[in-house]
Formats: sequence, C-alpha cells, structure tokens
Amino acid sequence: MARFTEPLLLFLVIFSPVLTDSPTEEIEVLALLPQNNSFLFSQSRVAPAIRYAQDRLRADHPGFHFNIHFEDSDQVNHALFALADRSCDRKPDLILGPVREYEAAGVVRLASHWHIPVISAGALATAFRDKQSEYSQLTRIAPSYVKMAEIFSAMFEHFTWRSALLLYEDDRRDRDCYFTLEGVHHLMDHYDMEVETIHQEPTFKYEDIFKTNLDMEVVIMCAGADRIREIMLAAHRRQLTNGSNMFFNVDLFNASSYGNGSWRRGDEFDDEARQAYASLNTVTLLRTVKPEYENFSMEMQRSTEELGLYGCDDCGNVNMFVEGFHDALVLYASALDECMKSGCTKKNGTEITSRMWNRTIEGIAGQVSIDANGDRVGDFSLMAMTNVETGSYEVVANYFGKNKSFQLLPALRSDHFTLKRRQEVPEKEKEVENPSCGLGVSALTGVTVGAVLGAVMLIAFYFFRKNYRITIQRRTRGDEPESVKHHQLREDSIRSNFSAA
Ligand SMILES: *[C@@H]1O[C@H](CO)[C@@H](O)[C@H](O)[C@H]1NC(C)=O
Ligand SMILES: *[C@@H]1O[C@H](CO)[C@@H](O)[C@H](O)[C@H]1NC(C)=O
Ligand SMILES: *[C@@H]1O[C@H](CO)[C@@H](O)[C@H](O)[C@H]1NC(C)=O
Ligand SMILES: *[C@@H]1O[C@H](CO)[C@@H](O)[C@H](O)[C@H]1NC(C)=O
Ligand SMILES: *[C@@H]1O[C@H](CO)[C@@H](O)[C@H](O)[C@H]1NC(C)=O
Ligand SMILES: *[C@@H]1O[C@H](CO)[C@@H](O)[C@H](O)[C@H]1NC(C)=O
Ligand SMILES: *[C@@H]1O[C@H](CO)[C@@H](O)[C@H](O)[C@H]1NC(C)=O
Ligand SMILES: *[C@@H]1O[C@H](CO)[C@@H](O)[C@H](O)[C@H]1NC(C)=O
Repeated sequence: MARFTEPLLLFLVIFSPVLTDSPTEEIEVLALLPQNNSFLFSQSRVAPAIRYAQDRLRADHPGFHFNIHFEDSDQVNHALFALADRSCDRKPDLILGPVREYEAAGVVRLASHWHIPVISAGALATAFRDKQSEYSQLTRIAPSYVKMAEIFSAMFEHFTWRSALLLYEDDRRDRDCYFTLEGVHHLMDHYDMEVETIHQEPTFKYEDIFKTNLDMEVVIMCAGADRIREIMLAAHRRQLTNGSNMFFNVDLFNASSYGNGSWRRGDEFDDEARQAYASLNTVTLLRTVKPEYENFSMEMQRSTEELGLYGCDDCGNVNMFVEGFHDALVLYASALDECMKSGCTKKNGTEITSRMWNRTIEGIAGQVSIDANGDRVGDFSLMAMTNVETGSYEVVANYFGKNKSFQLLPALRSDHFTLKRRQEVPEKEKEVENPSCGLGVSALTGVTVGAVLGAVMLIAFYFFRKNYRITIQRRTRGDEPESVKHHQLREDSIRSNFSAA
C-alpha cells in the first residue's frame, strides 16, 4: 500500500500548488478549555462554535486546514503543562484560550516568549492590557473589564455623579468579580471610591455595608444573584433606595437570564425586593442579532442536544465565550491570509498578531473591532426596571465603545438617574453642632455670674470643636482611604500572584 501511495503523495506535494489557486497551509490550533461542563466556556460549549467557524472558513480560505486539538484546562496549571508538553514535539501555530485569568497568565507568557499568537475570549483582567512584554502575543476577542468600565465612566460624566462604592464578592478562586471591579477602579481612579468585599461566610452581615459608606453616591456591585438581593434588601431597609443612591450590578455573562424576575424567589421578601430592585440597574453586554446568527444559534443548540450534556442546564445558550472563540478563528484566518499575501508564513507569530490588531471583522453576531492594543472594543447595555408594578426590565441605554457614545433610549426616565442629593446632610451637621452652642448658652450664664474667663473658655471650646471636626473629616475622606483602596485592589494583580507562584 505504502509503496503506491508514496509517489501519489509526492505528486500531490509537487503539483498541489499548481492544481489549486492557493497553497495548502496546515495550521495547528491548540484550544485550552475546561472539560468540566459547569463553565460557560467549557469545551463542550465552545467546540461546536469553533467547528462552525472552521466549516465556514473553508469557503473563504480553501487553502487553510485547521487541525484543532483540545486540551483540558480544568486546573490552574493544566493548560500551561499541556502547552509545554505539546510544544516539545511541534509548537502550535495558534492558541485559543484559556479564559480564566490565573491560567491565562502562565500560558500567554510562555506563548509570547515563543511568539505564538494567543486569542482568548477571556483573560479580561486589567493586567493583560500590558502588551509591551509578557502578554505581547495576546489578542482579546471579548471586551475586557476596563472596556466595560467605560460605560460607567460615560454615565458618571453624563449624570454628574462623583463617588462610588465598589462591592465585590470574593470566591478566592477565579475571582471574576474582583477583576471585574478592578477594571472600574482602574479606569475611574480620579473619582472618590471605596472598596468593600462581600464575604461568602453565611454569617456575613449585609446591613453593615451601609453603616459606614453612606456618603458614596453610586454603589457598583458584582456578586451572585442571591447576594445582590440581600444587599438590595439591606439598602432598602436603610432607605437608600429612594433616589439618594444609585445601584448598579455588573452581570456580563448570564445576561440572558437576568431581568426574568431575579428579585423573585417566592419568599415573603419578594414584594420588598421588587421595590428595592426599582433602583437597581444592570450593566450587560449589548446584544446584536443578524440573520446568520439565527442559524449559528440553532446549530449550537442542536450540537449540545446531540451530546446530551450532563451537568449543564442551558448549554445551548450562546454566550460571549462561544461567540468569541468562533470569531477568534475568523480573525486569525483573515490576518494570516493578509500576512501570507505579503510574504510571511504562519510561523511569523508576531506579524500575524499585529495584523489582528487595529482591525474590524464581521463576527457571528455583528462587527468585531480590535483596538490598536489588541483588545476588543466593547458595546454594553444598561437595563433598568421600567415597570415597578410588574417588576419588569428594559434596556434603557447603550454604550458604543468604538465611537465612545452613550445613547439614551426612550425607555429611560431621567429622574430615575437623577440623584436626590441629600440636602439635609449639612442641616444635620449643623444640628450636631448645636449641642455645643447649647452648651455655650449655659456657659454664657456663667459669664454673667463669673468673669471674662467663661467667654474665653467658650471661644476656645468652639474652635476646638470646629478644628476637631475638620480633622476627622479629612482623615476619613482624604488620603487614608485612598491608599487603602489602592492596596486592596492592587495587591492581587495577575503579575504579583504569578511571579510568586
Ligand atoms: C466542575 O466544577 C464545579 C464548580 O467549579 C465543581 O463543583 C465540580 O466538582 C467540578 N466537576 C468535576 C467533575 O470536576
Ligand atoms: C426615603 O423615603 C422614606 C419614606 O418614603 C423617607 O422617610 C426617607 O426620608 C427618604 N430618604 C431619603 C434619603 O430621601
Ligand atoms: C444564570 O442565572 C440564573 C439565575 O440567576 C441561574 O439560575 C443560572 O444557573 C445561571 N446560569 C449560569 C450558566 O450561570
Ligand atoms: C421568563 O422565563 C419564563 C420561563 O422560564 C419564560 O417563559 C419567559 O419568556 C421569560 N421572560 C423573559 C422576559 O425572558
Ligand atoms: C445552517 O446553514 C447551513 C448551511 O447554510 C445548513 O446546512 C444548516 O441546515 C442550517 N442550520 C439550521 C439549523 O438551519
Ligand atoms: C518572518 O519570519 C522570518 C524568519 O522567521 C523572517 O526572516 C521574516 O523577516 C519574517 N517576516 C516578516 C514579514 O516578519
Ligand atoms: C489603525 O488603522 C488606521 C487605518 O485603518 C490607521 O490610520 C491608524 O494609524 C492605525 N493605528 C495604529 C495605532 O496603528
Ligand atoms: C456610534 O455608533 C453606533 C453604532 O455603530 C451608532 O448607532 C451611533 O449612532 C454612533 N453614535 C455617534 C454619536 O456617532
């Protein structure tokens, strides 16, 4: 057999460039995604999307043959080891994934060292913005957390808000919420900000959150749906939900199921929760739909049904990761095509990576723009409760990253976003001052009875009080929280964690 096929192969190798228009290029792709179905970006969800892209690309780029190998990335170092092991033999030409920050850090560093392009729909943390050295080959096909923060920046400017309390739930594993709000903190450093952690212990007291942070106008949260509800109930009970504060929840990945009564639990607090949620707004990804998307979405549904996936209720739902990895292959193919036309090969990783940047392609759900730093430009939507009676939500505003425009929709009620600044706060401060005046009055009677001494004491006391109050205010609002918040959010940058590991 081999004796006969060998000449045939030789013939094909020699003449195939002549027989077909474009030369055949075998492209080794290594996809590093978890096998565990409980992730939104597990292999079983993302693989059909990558295959879909592969099929579609066959028409546009008949010369490209993608050989896609899936490797497990269930545990933090699996992905890194898989890359190292595979590369002993032959280095991949393209890496897709990993998504989770701690895994991505190691893999992207090694790949960048080897000049292998990496495209991920994850690695959304702020640290991955640094493309100068360690993450030089990383292209992010999904909008990072800093891009998400742009919608907050736009809102703060539009509605003239001044301060924010960032509340995040810390799971001490993937730390998605931590990294989400780190993006906000990074972009909006010039605003007055406080940071608080929601601990996962059942004994955590939600009421305590609002004991100390009353003067923060906007509360930006990232936490599980049940925790958000607890926080909103606590805020409602402290009467913070009637316009004195704005509440935001960042929910990027499970956006489809949000708005379907997430305040509703069927318990005795439902009614209270509905009222509280009237002042809760949610930032999610902007959804766009185009005709091809219908087919894609149906195919994804079909392939997961065929697999009969275990431990995965809504696997058929297309999410940002599924879309992203589809578009990743499309982006790579167009960059490689362009690169080869100008004389480079698939091994010129740096050249291909740079051609993926500052580029717009037609993705499965709409246009995908990668900025000059290799990061996807993000479009986001703001959802708010538009009917307090039924507790239903609508998209009230959109943010477009490409032209940085914040677009208000007719459903938006501007009074809903107008802070009722607590005018009575200075009044209250005066009241607090009054007891000292009252004390002064009784001291005054002392003046008439005694001598000038009483008046001197009164004046001294008044100045002491005043200075004391100013000092306290400086200490609580000034430098101290500033350094604390920096410390809190910076202590765990991907860099420090991984250089320690
Ligand atoms: C999959 O991940 C979930 C959540 O991280 C975990 O609870 C579960 O044990 C994992 N399953 C397997 C088979 O590892
Ligand atoms: C919020 O509403 C309650 C009852 O309507 C009222 O007592 C409270 O003073 C209001 N709080 C603010 C800050 O406006
Ligand atoms: C999405 O959110 C709903 C409600 O909060 C929850 O029941 C569901 O498990 C979530 N799905 C995923 C994939 O996280
Ligand atoms: C809410 O969920 C129910 C049942 O899951 C579904 O029938 C309904 O269409 C959903 N509504 C919205 C607005 O998503
Ligand atoms: C999607 O389109 C392809 C080709 O255009 C077709 O073969 C396939 O049946 C379509 N799938 C669905 C679910 O309509
Ligand atoms: C591609 O790589 C080769 C060798 O690795 C190098 O000689 C060539 O200059 C590179 N081409 C481009 C366009 O970067
Ligand atoms: C991005 O591309 C545009 C043209 O498409 C070009 O004018 C611009 O200089 C490029 N920016 C960078 C930073 O390369
Ligand atoms: C920004 O871009 C979006 C979508 O491309 C468009 O709908 C919107 O009108 C643009 N806004 C401005 C101010 O150009």
